[in-house]
Amino acid sequence: MHKHVKKVLISEEQLNKRIIELAKQLSDDYKGERITLVGLLSGSVPFLAELIKHINLDCEIDFMDVSSYRGTQSTGEVRILKDLARPIVDTNIIIVEDIVDTGKTLKVVRNILENRGPKSVKIITLLDKPEGRLVEVEVEYIGFKIPNEFVIGFGLDYDELYRNLPYIGILREEVYM
Ligand code: IMP
Repeated sequence: MHKHVKKVLISEEQLNKRIIELAKQLSDDYKGERITLVGLLSGSVPFLAELIKHINLDCEIDFMDVSSYRGTQSTGEVRILKDLARPIVDTNIIIVEDIVDTGKTLKVVRNILENRGPKSVKIITLLDKPEGRLVEVEVEYIGFKIPNEFVIGFGLDYDELYRNLPYIGILREEVYM
């Protein structure tokens, strides 16, 4: 275990098992359809990479990077740092996120993509912190609901570090205090 991790919340084994279940669910729900996974950079990368291996559908991937609200007053807008490479008219979009906290990022991203004429838009997140929610956003697929703790690993960072840990861990308070 990394020395900055207080506790492993979700092991590598639990992650892999749940991600296979999510991929099966997506494969059933979109049977016969083509889908595009839209990963939100950078946190969703390990989740998306594991998920896509178990999806049994015609599947494209694309990525978007948006600025975070963290530490700022929300204006209801996010800045697009990197946009999708291709148009999404008539496509089934599945937004792939690492964690939903306040819900602000996903609400705005969902709105932006819904306004581009896709066939459908749904959201899949590996983690959900329901206690952190400040705005309502529909999240169709959730890997794990977790308590209101700051977590790292499997794509999730603190100050751009720890994304490479293969598990989800709770960060020791002394690292960010
Ligand atoms: P929201 O707009 O508040 O839902 O923000 C979601 C984003 O905040 C995620 O994509 C993460 O980048 C970040 N975030 C929220 N909670 C955590 C956490 O516990 N660890 C690491 N990043 C987090």
